[in-house]
Amino acid sequence: MPRMRLSLRFLLPISVLFALLATLMMPLVDAWNLRWSIRDLDNQSQLITETLKEPLVELIVKEDYAKVQAMLNSAIKEKRLYALAYCDEAGKMRRWTQTFPTELGCAPSNGENGVVRINSDDSRGGPVHLSIQPLKDEGQVFGYLVFVHDMGYLEHRSSETRGYVIAAFTILAVLVMMITLLVAHLSWHNWMAGIRAVLRGENPIRAMEQADPEVRPIIRDLNQMLSDASRRSTLRDDATTQWGPETLRQLLHDHLYGDEILVVSNREPYVHVHTDQGIQVQRPASGLVTAVEPVMRACSGTWIAQGSGSADKESADAKGRLRVPPDRPSYTLRRIWLSEEEERGYYYGFANEGIWPLCHIAHVRPNFRGADWEQYVKVNQRFADAVVEETNTHDPVILVQDYHFALLPRMIRELLPRATILTFWHIPWPNPESFGICPWRNEILEGLLGSTILGFHTPYHRKNFIETVDRFLETRIEHENSTISYRGKLTMVQDYPISIHWPGATADGADMVAEPRQRIRQQLGLDDEDKLLLGVDRLDYTKGIIERFEAVERLLEKRPEWVGRLCLLQIAAPSRSLLDEYQGFESRVRATAARINERFGDARIPPILLRIEQHSHGAVVEHYRACDICMVTSLHDGMNLVAKEFVAAREDEAGVLILSQFAGAAGELREALVINPYDREETAAALHSALSMAPAEQRERMRSLRALVRDFNIYRWAGRMLVDAAVARRQARIQERIFYQSASPSRRKR
Ligand code: G6P
Repeated sequence: MPRMRLSLRFLLPISVLFALLATLMMPLVDAWNLRWSIRDLDNQSQLITETLKEPLVELIVKEDYAKVQAMLNSAIKEKRLYALAYCDEAGKMRRWTQTFPTELGCAPSNGENGVVRINSDDSRGGPVHLSIQPLKDEGQVFGYLVFVHDMGYLEHRSSETRGYVIAAFTILAVLVMMITLLVAHLSWHNWMAGIRAVLRGENPIRAMEQADPEVRPIIRDLNQMLSDASRRSTLRDDATTQWGPETLRQLLHDHLYGDEILVVSNREPYVHVHTDQGIQVQRPASGLVTAVEPVMRACSGTWIAQGSGSADKESADAKGRLRVPPDRPSYTLRRIWLSEEEERGYYYGFANEGIWPLCHIAHVRPNFRGADWEQYVKVNQRFADAVVEETNTHDPVILVQDYHFALLPRMIRELLPRATILTFWHIPWPNPESFGICPWRNEILEGLLGSTILGFHTPYHRKNFIETVDRFLETRIEHENSTISYRGKLTMVQDYPISIHWPGATADGADMVAEPRQRIRQQLGLDDEDKLLLGVDRLDYTKGIIERFEAVERLLEKRPEWVGRLCLLQIAAPSRSLLDEYQGFESRVRATAARINERFGDARIPPILLRIEQHSHGAVVEHYRACDICMVTSLHDGMNLVAKEFVAAREDEAGVLILSQFAGAAGELREALVINPYDREETAAALHSALSMAPAEQRERMRSLRALVRDFNIYRWAGRMLVDAAVARRQARIQERIFYQSASPSRRKR
């Protein structure tokens, strides 16, 4: 196809040019033809005169005009000589052939050779050529001969010559076209050879040198894109790469050349609160914060979030800025202050009573209110303005986090068209039917499609999103590349399973675990032989906390040998407690724990120990180490980082993870005991297996889980997204350059 276009581009003008030339040549050809013919005829006349001169002069001297006549008659037998006359030196016509047009006489109009038109009786009427040749002998003139040549053949010769000229031009044109095609083919071949050499991965410098100059920029871009792609796939798929903060820093240096990085999330990584001991810094219970904070430490940059702590204002400057982490500042936290009305509508209302239940299949009805939506739009716009305020460049890399900011990507895109926007949706994405009940579904989808890259935890959530877009918006979806094109803007939709910071090897893993294990067990009043089950969650109805309690109850029913020999310690960080649903949930959790404990009131240790309070990260890690079984029984969960944190904490390679099949983590942590939390029998049976599992099997499973979490840690998650962002940025720049080069000069000036 390109060859065809190339040929047409060259061949059409060549054909037109040659046709034009041939047309212009025709009058010239006729004129040359005439001149050559006249010269020819004059030469012929001269030759005949020379031949006839001697005998003719002899006859003239003898005045034998009869023989002169005969001689003239025989001379005109030559086919183009029409007539001949002899005139004496006085210009009197003495003898002439019968065909001679007597009106011409001996002195044609100008007395010179030339073309005249005659009217003849025979069919030869038309132009004739007169050639007048003197009869000279030894200096004496004996009169002259007037030759009349028929020029009728000239037209025939002219049309014949035109034919030749057209044929010659056609042959020439064909030759030129063939040469052009050959040259085009050869240079196309060179282009293709250059591009193929790059694709084959041959030395890029040699490929550049051998390529035609005009194809070199394309080869350079192609090289760049291919090396990006290969680097990307190496980084993605090479499980041998050990990812850590340093790898991420190096990646940022290599791929993003120190570009500006901003994170936007609702929850802030550090909360300052007033306590009896003065202002204290707390880390919120948020999977998002757990995951993104180590990335920010490695990247520096600015994190924009809602300021929610009671002492947040006095801990920041007038603009709401402060350097964090407090012990080793490495990035800036910019706090945004929301009014009560804004927080109620945007955070509690639309985000947590609308989108949260909409996206989690936990059988809590979403509540959509127009007033909440208005606040959601307003607060998203406030964060978009804050992004513009915080950025120092026109093309920063912005990491937008979660369902609080579905509209933010498009809003940022409008304010900073050249920004690279990576949005990560930390919670599940439902199927189109479920999502379709949201009254502002189109606005939410359009908002998210302002992203350059949109990430989900699992391929299933990604697929649900693409199907939802397909159902409700007019877009072009390319399933092979997982891209959505909406109103001329491309969004890549990918799955990036989130993870945690891998703490790294310690001198002796078993020692690390033994000490806290003993201490915590002592605090809880447990003997060495007692089994400790652990649940760590926000107090949220999606976490399956009640189902977990009931599974323990079922186990004790079915296997009374465990009564008094085990307990489940449930750490539950209070969450969104202003909402009725959460208050009601807390009451149900407390009531269920109390009921079960009462039921097994005779047991030496109560089956459920409920701690509804905030625990520091360090305390939670110690509990992971102290327990025998960690229970993650979410009814629906984007990923669930508790499962990964438990695995990371078990340096002793002991302990069992029970994991809900409805948590994104179940797709990765295959060595866990995977259960359906709605099925109490199954969970109770899994609990029994875990309690009875031999140390060797525990070690085997834990080793495999730990290897996975170590390799697929949070730096790898961030690295994969940032590499994709770097590739997207480079592609955008290349496209801009191509657009710029191909734009007309006037357009370029604008
Ligand atoms: C989930 C969400 C996070 C959120 C966290 C805690 O993990 O995906 O965005 O920060 O819950 O919820 P909260 O409402 O307390 O921030």
